[in-house]
Formats: sequence, structure tokens, C-alpha cells
Amino acid sequence: MQTMVETRNLRKTYNRPDGSTIEAVKGVNLEIRQGEIFSLLGPNGAGKTTTISMISGLVEPTEGDATIGGHSITAEPMAAKRLMGFVPQEIALYPELSARQNLAFFGRMYGLGGKALNRRVDELLEFVDLADRQNDRIDTFSGGMKRRINLVAGLLNSPPLIYMDEPTVGIDPQSRRRILDTVKLLRDEQDMTVLYTTHLMEEAQELSDRVAIIDHGEIIAMGTQDELTQQVGEEDRLEFTIGEQEIAETLFERIQQKTPGVTRVLYNPTEQLSDDSSESVPALMTVFAKRGRTALPQILQELDSAGVEIQSVTVREPDLEAVFLALTGRALRD
Ligand SMILES: Nc1ncnc2c1ncn2[C@@H]1O[C@H](COP(=O)(O)OP(=O)(O)O)[C@@H](O)[C@H]1O
Ligand SMILES: [Mg+2]
Repeated sequence: MQTMVETRNLRKTYNRPDGSTIEAVKGVNLEIRQGEIFSLLGPNGAGKTTTISMISGLVEPTEGDATIGGHSITAEPMAAKRLMGFVPQEIALYPELSARQNLAFFGRMYGLGGKALNRRVDELLEFVDLADRQNDRIDTFSGGMKRRINLVAGLLNSPPLIYMDEPTVGIDPQSRRRILDTVKLLRDEQDMTVLYTTHLMEEAQELSDRVAIIDHGEIIAMGTQDELTQQVGEEDRLEFTIGEQEIAETLFERIQQKTPGVTRVLYNPTEQLSDDSSESVPALMTVFAKRGRTALPQILQELDSAGVEIQSVTVREPDLEAVFLALTGRALRD
């Protein structure tokens, strides 16, 4: 597959007002392939916006370079930027103009006009399912609808690459759903390459063909989701919640020794939430197992014959959260 974006040793050091410096991005090397959704996943402050801003030519690298379709963003910024559409986090539309007028305006900025412009505006309105509202003023649109128009405003010139910096932050679940679906359609129906940043594992997991995990300005892992999860082992996590009940330690030992694939059993007993409350969190037994689903029936049988009452069972396959945890010792959300 062809390379769409390549970065080489991208670095950014910011000067703070007090004279100190901060290394926001510390030598990032990425390769983004044509036609894929590539996510940059990392906690707040990891360096996602800085990285994407250097790739798109908004921020000048302290060191290193990025190429877009072979064009250097530092040496040939015009040629490189022509290949990129951008979706800003804030809505950048004219409230008193209609949806159609807004898109036509952005199209003219890209040098489009006449029939070609009209056709492209029709196509994009259709694409975000807002053709029937095209002549209504933007200030009559819901937040989610504005976001959809905002999204395609960056696509008037049909760029092969679009980048989106945390486009779902602070929006309602329904609009978020639409954005995620639209991102997939951009790849599947418009043959676009998407560079997407997020701090949410679920989003990266749902969207990405490949993911780079960034932490403290450094890429700590990169690959397909399978490649990344294999790095941390292939064990599933089986979580059993158990009612208030005394359980003999020997049960856990028996499960660990007798069930094929099981490597470890952890037990967190029932916990009283506070002294003066009767509320409590249920006990949680976590079993680490290769091929967790295969091991499950036998574990359930062991629990049953010991008279243990199970409230719920969840099988968690290795996920990006587990990768981040394994590499940094921290949860993504922290
Ligand atoms: N213009 C700036 N001046 C100084 N420090 C900055 C600037 N922009 C970002 N930073 C710092 O660089 C680090 C990375 O920020 P950023 O790229 O915005 O991370 P993310 O998008 O992953 O949340 C943070 O510590 C942030 O405070
Ligand atoms: Mg950011």
C-alpha cells in the first residue's frame, strides 16, 4: 500500500512565558498508508494536537519533517496542504448563511466554481444527509447538524487526506455516533485517508485500521490493533462478580491448576463502601486465561460445585487499554 503521510523525527519544543521550555513532541516517526483510518491515541497532554499541527503545517517543527503524498510540509507547504482537508474542533461556519451558502463559500476559497462547485456541494450535503435542510440558515441547525456541515466544509476540494483532532469532544452521544459513522464512510465511500486523534480507547478501537499510542510526546507502540494486543500477550480477562459470600482460597487454586489456559486468578472480596452504609461493591474474581471462552465452562462448573453464586460474567479480550496499561503502568484515563 502507498504511503500517504510520513514523519521523520518530528520534534517540538515550546518556550513557556517564564523562560522554561517543554518538549511536547520528542522525535515522532509515523507512516500512514493510503486509504486507512489511522488514530493517534493518547491521554490529554500527550502531544497529539502538536503532532497533527506539525503534519498539517500549522505549527513549525523544531526538528524533523513530514511528507504528505511525498511533499515536504516544510519545503513545499503549498503542495502538501493541497492534499489535506481539516476539520476544526470549533464550528467555523457563518450562522446567518444557509448550509448551501456556507459550503459554496468554502468551495470558492478552494478555487472551485460553476457546475463543479454545485455538484460537489450537492454530493457533500447528500453525504451528511442534510440535503433537505440545505437552504436553512445554519443558526437554525442543531449542534450535531452544524458539526456535520463543519465536517464536510473541509472536503470541498476532495482532498485524499483528512485530519480530525478529537472531533467528538464535548458532544452528545447521538452526534458522536454520527461522526464516527461518517469517519468510516469517508474511508469506505470516498476512498479517503483519515488521521484521527483521540484520548478514548473505544473510539480508536472502533475506527482504526492502525493505531499509534502516544505518551509524553513519544510513540510507545504502533500497529494494527491485533499487532498491539499481541505485544502484551494474548490472555483474555474473565471477570466474575460474586454475591456476598465466604469463599475458600483453595477454590481459586483449584481453578488455576485444573483449568487449561488459566494463568492467574485474582480475587477482590466484597467491599463496604463506607462505615455507615450498607452499600457494598460485589466481590470480583478475575481470571487471566488464554482462550478465555474455552476455559469459561469449566470455571463455571468449579464455582457451581463449590456453591458460589455468580452475578455476572464478562469476557474481556486484550484491548488497547491493556496495551497502554502494560506499557506505562497507567490507565489511559488518568
Ligand atoms: N503553544 C504552546 N505553548 C506551550 N506549551 C504547549 C503549547 N501547546 C501545547 N503545549 C504543551 O505541550 C504538551 C502537549 O500538548 P498537546 O499537543 O496539546 O497534547 P494533546 O493534544 O495530546 O492533549 C502539553 O504539555 C501542553 O501543555
Ligand atoms: Mg489535543
